[in-house]
Amino acid sequence: MKQSFYASLLDNNKQWVEEELKKDPEFFKKLKDGQNPPILWIGCADSRVPANQIIGANPGEIFVHRNIANMVVHTDMNMLSVLDYAVNVLKVRHVIVCGHYGCGGVKTAMENTSVGLIDNWIRHIKDVYRFNREELVAIEDPKERFDRFVEINIREQVYNLAKSSIVQAAWGRDQFLEIHGWVYGVENGLIKDLDINIENNKELSDVYQLNGIY
Ligand code: CO
Repeated sequence: MKQSFYASLLDNNKQWVEEELKKDPEFFKKLKDGQNPPILWIGCADSRVPANQIIGANPGEIFVHRNIANMVVHTDMNMLSVLDYAVNVLKVRHVIVCGHYGCGGVKTAMENTSVGLIDNWIRHIKDVYRFNREELVAIEDPKERFDRFVEINIREQVYNLAKSSIVQAAWGRDQFLEIHGWVYGVENGLIKDLDINIENNKELSDVYQLNGIY
């Protein structure tokens, strides 16, 4: 089954091109000179959470970074490069961290089974568990606890964005930049806004606040 799906990919591509051109003969011409997306999406690599599709975004409308469990790790050169380019070159107005219920990375972080090299990536999520241990262990129902941990991890990654020099510098020069935390329901397709609003670095724990940065 996998093989036949693979075999259809290039045909699917040709069909997609035809359909887009039928709707708008200029579709690809309009895209060839560059991009100006207003949004950076940081999401999970999970195949069930395709960024563009679930929010009806067309090519050119969102800049996307995905990794296991939508993490914002401040030493991750890949994530930092995407963030820097999005904020400082593309001048996106919104950064969305979109996690999802049922996230395998988050689930693994709650457990003790080794999954190989990824243990070291999952470690960052285990740290989030430790910071919020009291709240999480108080939730008796395992599914509820898992769902809450997914949400808490998203919140933590939104704060990690706010702590970054890139975001603090943008705020320091009064560049419009809002960061958001969303959670996607794999079982119903719906996104919930977790309503995490950080608008300046004064809302960060004092040790993370960088002064004179712009
Ligand atoms: Co996931």
